[in-house]
Amino acid sequence: MRTRVGIIGAGPAGLLLSHLLHLAGIESVVLETRDRAYVEARQRAGVVEHGVARLLRRSGLGERMDREGITHDGIELRFDGRSHRVDFSDLCGRSVEIWAQTEIVKDLTARRLADGGQVLFGARATAIEGIETDSPRVRHTLEGREEVLECDYVAACDGFHGIGRRSLPEGVVRTFERLYPFSWLGVLADVPPSCEELVYARHERGFALHSMRSEEVSRLYLQVPNGTDPDDWPEERVWEELAERMAVPGWELRRGPLTSKGLTPMRSLVTEPMSHGRLYLAGDAAHIVPPTGAKGLNLALHDVALLAEGLRARYTHGGTGALEDYSAAALRRVWRAEHFSYWMTTLLHTSGDAFDHRLQLSHLEYLASSRAASTQLAENYTGLPRP
Ligand code: FAD
Ligand code: DHB
Repeated sequence: MRTRVGIIGAGPAGLLLSHLLHLAGIESVVLETRDRAYVEARQRAGVVEHGVARLLRRSGLGERMDREGITHDGIELRFDGRSHRVDFSDLCGRSVEIWAQTEIVKDLTARRLADGGQVLFGARATAIEGIETDSPRVRHTLEGREEVLECDYVAACDGFHGIGRRSLPEGVVRTFERLYPFSWLGVLADVPPSCEELVYARHERGFALHSMRSEEVSRLYLQVPNGTDPDDWPEERVWEELAERMAVPGWELRRGPLTSKGLTPMRSLVTEPMSHGRLYLAGDAAHIVPPTGAKGLNLALHDVALLAEGLRARYTHGGTGALEDYSAAALRRVWRAEHFSYWMTTLLHTSGDAFDHRLQLSHLEYLASSRAASTQLAENYTGLPRP
């Protein structure tokens, strides 16, 4: 099998890249190890930055988001039993869309298949070869057979556990990493949200986040120690803990049946460079952020917009400048988001250290009283036009 761009991974990054290349008249093949139902049901992010929403609309993928998603003009911070609203529209003139990653992936998959795109589910990439030549290859298994995909370029959009990052030669690649001593227990609940905007709560017992998927479905998270077994958190315990951590006078948490429960470890990781020879990394394959601040999905989509632009230039007039700049350009945004996610995480999660606690409260009070401090949060949360 031969194509121009071999893409590994049918997550949001791989699928959007394939779609943008198709719009530019460039053929690609997507290899995805899982089946379609699994990929479409995987519960993950829910906040789409202002600029990413525009990118989705511009590439013909905004219709359902604009009809069924919810525009949010701010978030609420809770600490010390009180509440502070960060008004994005007022502070930076931008907003975000509450639109789940599962829905973006469903729309993208349907669109690629309707456009005759090749998305091969059940195809597991096992090796990337010849990245320093003009014709790299992706070895993969499909329906029990060993296959080879020959291409001009390989885009590894295969997430944190994929083979892309590990295929960059040793000595070329450098990894920067930070681990955190806590995880998120995330639940999905069949109950209307108890708030109109997302609530980020700092509490001595740990961080809590109230998000949503629709007018009927809430998405909630609790800080828990690493290694927590979700089975130790029956429904009743989840609701009691959320209610306690998010409590402010006059507010009540609506409760309902939980429909999913999962643990997300927290990690910051950046791989530099994000390309070598004819191999390009995008999304979680190249970098991970802790989820506080909702940057993972947005970064992945920014990466592939840049990469698609570089490939479009290469195939339309032969210019390789944008492809050569891809890694440096992507990393500028990545490091901004890494800092923001790290900052939001350390601002809101409990470490158990009394000094940290005092610093957090001081900074939260500063946010509540200073327009300049809140503007930084608003700009980063809604997404900087140019990092
Ligand atoms: P992925 O979505 O991981 O897609 C990679 C794809 O590659 C997968 O479909 C995988 O099956 C496939 N693949 C892997 N290896 C191979 C192979 N060898 N061959 C073929 N295919 C392969 N971000 C937030 O902003 N908020 C959140 O609440 C949030 N929660 C998260 C919870 C979890 C459990 C995880 C893992 C991530 C979460 N994220 C969250 C991050 C966000 O979802 C990711 O940043 C986003 O999915 C990145 O998209 P991607 O396309 O780069 O990678
Ligand atoms: C969601 C996830 C986040 O990490 C976040 O900061 C806000 C919302 C969500 O899944 O809805």
